[in-house]
Amino acid sequence: MKILVTGGTGYIGSHTCVELLDAGYEVVIIDNLSNSKIDVVDKIKKITNKDFKFYKGDLCDYNILDKIFSENKIDAVIHFAGFKAVGESVSMPLKYYRNNLDSTLTLLEVMNKYNCKKIAFSSSATVYGKPESLPIKEDFPLSTTNPYGTTKLIIEGILRDLYKSDNEWSIAILRYFNPIGAHKSGLIGENPNDIPNNLMPYIVKVATKELDCLNVFGDDYDTKDGTGVRDYIHVVDLAKGHIKAIEKILNETGIDAYNLGTGNGYSVLELVNTFKKVNGVDVKYKIVDRRPGDIDACYADNSYAKEKLNWEAKLGIEDMCKDSYNFVKNSNEKK
Ligand code: NAD
Ligand code: UD1
Repeated sequence: MKILVTGGTGYIGSHTCVELLDAGYEVVIIDNLSNSKIDVVDKIKKITNKDFKFYKGDLCDYNILDKIFSENKIDAVIHFAGFKAVGESVSMPLKYYRNNLDSTLTLLEVMNKYNCKKIAFSSSATVYGKPESLPIKEDFPLSTTNPYGTTKLIIEGILRDLYKSDNEWSIAILRYFNPIGAHKSGLIGENPNDIPNNLMPYIVKVATKELDCLNVFGDDYDTKDGTGVRDYIHVVDLAKGHIKAIEKILNETGIDAYNLGTGNGYSVLELVNTFKKVNGVDVKYKIVDRRPGDIDACYADNSYAKEKLNWEAKLGIEDMCKDSYNFVKNSNEKK
């Protein structure tokens, strides 16, 4: 079975390619390298000892997609490609709507042309907005607070309309909670060049002394210690969830959404303290004002994914902290 992975050199995409190749799937990647580096291709090959085709190209370009589908018999697509920075989407909404929507529409049109009607799509827990209760179930009301989240919600709607129009489609909407961690090899992971927006990349840069001090955004939330609570999930567990989703969509038609989270909520301070303990490093922090738009707590009810995909996260918060640090130390040593 041959799987086209859009955004396959990115953070979650690269880990998923490793799991796909390890599970015996053939892989074809398209990525325009707008937020990833070409050396990831060789790293995936090194980890898996398997070869695959990589196309450098933009998903908004119909011609490159047409070329990929004419040169390869694609059985299913995992669609990761897109922009994902919430803050930037607020200041540059058109950039986000253009890239995330255009790329998806072009992809779906070409898939339709080649009669490839199986897709797993990267959505996000951000589509639950400010949830009324916890844990979050898939049938909770959906809303968003920023253009990035709105692109996810619009794409979910496009996919539902597509399925209504033609129920030969088979579609898995995967709503990720907070992916962190990295592959055990230390070869692939997440290490943004700019000042990170998300918590774990920031903690790591404080630990490596690239940044001075973590700003903890608020300690007056209605949570166990007042700091924000999230459902952190190891990226390798998340990647394995995609294999289960692919198995499902290869075998049956339909459309469904699944929460991919561990079901456990950890606070900012719990994550910082675990990171310090397992890595034996200091992480300086100070409490600052809340970040606008943040919610108190967010964690998944993952029973639907357990039941329907036969998937469950295995790795804990200590593995996530160790592997995130190991990847960045390893890449800094090679600089
Ligand atoms: P990432 O930025 O590391 O990977 C996305 C990849 O897509 C990058 O390699 C980028 O170069 C590529 N890309 C972007 N636009 C493209 C285009 N038009 N054509 C071709 N390639 C393009 O992001 P990630 O963390 O791996 O996230 C993957 C997906 O999961 C995204 O859709 C993201 O919105 C979603 N998601 C991520 C998180 C998270 O915390 N990382 C959480 C929820 C959902
Ligand atoms: C963010 C995005 C969300 C996206 C998710 C996964 C925002 C507002 N939301 O969610 O749409 O789906 O990433 O990519 O950006 N924190 C600090 N200091 C920091 C950074 C974060 O205290 O420097 C706190 C936050 O207040 C929050 C927790 O850490 O309580 C996690 O933050 P983050 O990693 O940015 O993820 P989310 O806010 O859950």
